Amino acid sequence: MKSLVVFYSLTGKTKLVSQVIAESLNATLFEIKEAKPRKLGLLTYLTGGLAAITNRGSEINPVDVDLKQHERIFIGSPVWASRPAPAINSFIYKTDFEGRSVIPFFTMGGDNAEKALANITAKVERSGGKVAGSFAVTSQDVPDEEIIARAKEATKEYSS
Ligand SMILES: Cc1cc2nc3c(=O)[nH]c(=O)nc-3n(C[C@H](O)[C@H](O)[C@H](O)COP(=O)(O)O)c2cc1C
Repeated sequence: MKSLVVFYSLTGKTKLVSQVIAESLNATLFEIKEAKPRKLGLLTYLTGGLAAITNRGSEINPVDVDLKQHERIFIGSPVWASRPAPAINSFIYKTDFEGRSVIPFFTMGGDNAEKALANITAKVERSGGKVAGSFAVTSQDVPDEEIIARAKEATKEYSS
């Protein structure tokens, strides 16, 4: 089954996990970019956090992949204010996931992705997708090698 990994990443952690998944599963990898890229800082915490809390999207560049070629879609996002990042909201709002298995995953500073997973699951289902799994990886003070190891472990169950 051909998989697609679509992700947004501000500081590279979700990108790292996405690359591991794509490599492990021989999946197509696509990075969502915001039309107006953010810099990490107070403004992003305030405006990005507020947008995430209110389930808003942001303007994203076109997502140029054919979903019909992929039965299984991994969607990766950092946790922002216990929710998905706005760029990922936009992607989900714009996409028809009918007939697709969707596996959302997060990276996060803390260790609790429950709220973010419940939030993204509801959004994916509203866009017609079936959530067939999920996972989250803590990134704060965790070396990249450890993040890679955790991503590999989490990906194992999807490799059949
Ligand atoms: C605006 C903003 C809000 C965040 N809110 C949370 C949060 O609520 N809970 C959490 O565990 N981490 C939070 N973080 C930390 C990120 O989820 C974490 O650093 C993540 O791994 C970053 O992924 P990235 O490198 O792909 O952007 C936040 C980061 C930003 C920039």
